[in-house]
Amino acid sequence: MQGNFTYHNPTRLHFGEDAMQHLAGELKHYGPTVMLSYGGGSIKKNGIYDAVVAALKEAGKTVIEDAGVMPNPTYEKVQEGCRLVREHKVDLILAVGGGSTIDYAKAVSASAWCEEDAWEKYWVKQGWPTCPVVPIGAVLTMVGTGSEMNGGSVITNRKAGFKLGKVFGPDLYPQFTILNPRFTMTVPQYQMVAGFFDIMSHLMEQYFAGTADCTTDYLNEGLMRSLVHSTRIAARNPQDYEARANIMWTATWALNTLLKCGKGGDWEVHQIGHAIGLVTDATHGMTLATVSLPYYRLVMHDGLHQFVRFATHVWGVRPEGKTDEQVAEEGLKCLEAWMQEIGVVMHSRELGVTEENLQAVADAVLIFPVGYRTLTRDEVISILRQSM
Ligand code: NZQ
Ligand code: ZN
Repeated sequence: MQGNFTYHNPTRLHFGEDAMQHLAGELKHYGPTVMLSYGGGSIKKNGIYDAVVAALKEAGKTVIEDAGVMPNPTYEKVQEGCRLVREHKVDLILAVGGGSTIDYAKAVSASAWCEEDAWEKYWVKQGWPTCPVVPIGAVLTMVGTGSEMNGGSVITNRKAGFKLGKVFGPDLYPQFTILNPRFTMTVPQYQMVAGFFDIMSHLMEQYFAGTADCTTDYLNEGLMRSLVHSTRIAARNPQDYEARANIMWTATWALNTLLKCGKGGDWEVHQIGHAIGLVTDATHGMTLATVSLPYYRLVMHDGLHQFVRFATHVWGVRPEGKTDEQVAEEGLKCLEAWMQEIGVVMHSRELGVTEENLQAVADAVLIFPVGYRTLTRDEVISILRQSM
């Protein structure tokens, strides 16, 4: 185990088909005014909205409606939410949706009473809230990001020219989250599969770092194996409850800070993915899928021991009679075959990356010196070209 760490996660999870019965009880811990934040309306079609409103009524809350949180939420929308919080003196933000809605709720929570420029303070300078924050609760409807049990808040600011993540502290984790796998059954196949790859990417971003023999890596491998198994089932039959439930639970543990204990982390695939998302507004998980293989094939030689371990522990590659490079490459081939099997987008040109906007994407990529290799700009361009 590397370094020192403190592990604390305050989010109370209610998991399972009957999880919603806990919502009214959770709401009772907060003041009378609840801002109900949600996306483009899917919750009105699948009945989740009605169930949430019934619990809000049962708990005697005044509800402030805050609809229209878009995928890849924008800073403009965050400012709109902040105005609502101030105007109605909101006591709790209840985010009902996927990662975008929950990330947005965290951004509003930290920014509503902030007297400085919140974009500069949190996302550019990575500062911490010094103002009161509004507590958040969540009802998760789409699986992938892990936002239901972490402090991550990824916001797109087109004026500033960046899509940036800020990882807030435990005050901004959802205080509670309702996780009902049935709620995810209406997610369209494309979004569902993008979420599957997002989970895998979170696992790999944390796995491909460091050299220590670390318990955390064994936990990570267990989650990867479960994910591969259950996503193969769910991609063929999205209505398979057991597979969807396993995937939901895996996603939460994939990015709730457990897997970074005693480890570093990489996160360069996410930086490239965010830049593609900024320029094309493509679905987050698909942006990651298109750049992962070119990226890992490049850095494989710098972190060879871990790529060999990935191949043998996660994919069951037999190492006998092969060089380390051959074993590592076979592991990546297994990853590629799984991606094709579940049906992710393999080429970024399908997401809108072109020779014309390639430089703009590269300009928006933050390069972190933390993985097995610190990329040069030319390497970023080369990864993007190969991803097309
Ligand atoms: O807007 P609605 O109508 O809700 O539709 C959404 C949206 O169009 C739809 N959807 C969600 N639940 C549904 C459903 N449709 C039918 N039935 C349901 N039950 O799915 C679409 C995508 O939703 P979204 O919330 O955008 O997806 P996701 O959960 O993948 O979130 C993506 C955002 O999270 C950020 C990404 O960058 C992106 O902005 N991330 C957040 C992280 C974190 N907080 O730690 C880490 C991730 O790496 C990621 O960067
Ligand atoms: Zn992600």
